[in-house]
Amino acid sequence: MTGTMGVSDSMAASDPILEVRNLQKYFQVTNGVLKAVDDVSLSIRRGETFGLVGESGCGKSTLGRTILRLYGATKGQVLFKGENVHQLKGDKLKKFNRAMQMVFQDPYASLNPRMTVGDIIAEGIDIHGLYSGAERRERVSELLHTVGLLEEHASRFPHEFSGGQRQRIGIARALAIEPEFIIADEPVSALDVSVQAQVINLFKRLQQEKWLTYLFIAHDLAMVKYISDRIGVMYLGALVEVARSNELYRQPLHPYTEALLSAIPIPDPEVERQRERIILEGDVPSPINPPSGCRFYARCPKAMPECQTETPALIQVEEEHEVACHLYKY
Ligand SMILES: Nc1ncnc2c1ncn2[C@@H]1O[C@H](COP(=O)(O)OP(=O)(O)OP(=O)(O)O)[C@@H](O)[C@H]1O
Ligand SMILES: [Mg+2]
Repeated sequence: MTGTMGVSDSMAASDPILEVRNLQKYFQVTNGVLKAVDDVSLSIRRGETFGLVGESGCGKSTLGRTILRLYGATKGQVLFKGENVHQLKGDKLKKFNRAMQMVFQDPYASLNPRMTVGDIIAEGIDIHGLYSGAERRERVSELLHTVGLLEEHASRFPHEFSGGQRQRIGIARALAIEPEFIIADEPVSALDVSVQAQVINLFKRLQQEKWLTYLFIAHDLAMVKYISDRIGVMYLGALVEVARSNELYRQPLHPYTEALLSAIPIPDPEVERQRERIILEGDVPSPINPPSGCRFYARCPKAMPECQTETPALIQVEEEHEVACHLYKY
């Protein structure tokens, strides 16, 4: 019996809950086509946290929003539990809308100032007609408690709360309809460092309790290391490296990842003094009519002639370590 359980457990663990295949999201803008997400493929297993990092404007939120169907896809597919989310209709669409939730970057803008916290949290419960009356009140209290707030907070309004508390409200709202997958789009960026750790710990605890899967978006590699099982590094609309969290820190392969890592200070002053910081020259190129070849070419300290003309594909170079760079072609 135990043996059988073991097999099915490990199968479930490796089973991707989300697969993104060659996803593109382009925006038509006045001076051309803005390629916000260009040919992104990734897969996320159930119960895993996939951290997505990259500089501002590289397409992280657009990728998250396209996965969640807030945007249609220009090309490519998003499969959630094997089904193409952009083709879901009727009951299946309803189920998907419950199963996948988003926690937003800005705890100030994402809560309706005219609604009580209780009504904000219960919005999904109301939309899906899950509970009413006393049951609904009970569920709201339970959710407030789960995220470390108090029952009496239900009758208050968002402006009466601090940033960290508002983000907890946002998390309670996302949890209300018992999702399986949460896209957390820079959920702690707007918070003080001390509060960031608390909210991150809350995410971790909830994941263990509810076997949630996270796509966790952040600017900062230091932040995602702690929470992520695997990390994807994005540059100008494309994934340039994907690896297990420890592996990415231990042995970054892409010159862009190396540069990002070299910017994180190390607490040991002895080590810190001897480190070489890689300063990237130039700005991130525009995603409108982006250059051909490797998009990192103009800023890459290791650029070779072919990088200017040939776009490197994301290839697996070691177990669970993928990189899109001509240095690793062979
Ligand atoms: N609705 C839209 N219409 C046109 N362009 C858009 C739209 N949404 C995003 N973009 C553009 O797509 C690119 C990617 O934006 P996105 O918000 O996904 O970046 P991001 O990585 O989330 O950045 P940040 O870290 O600042 O949140 C940017 O150049 C942005 O200006
Ligand atoms: Mg964003």
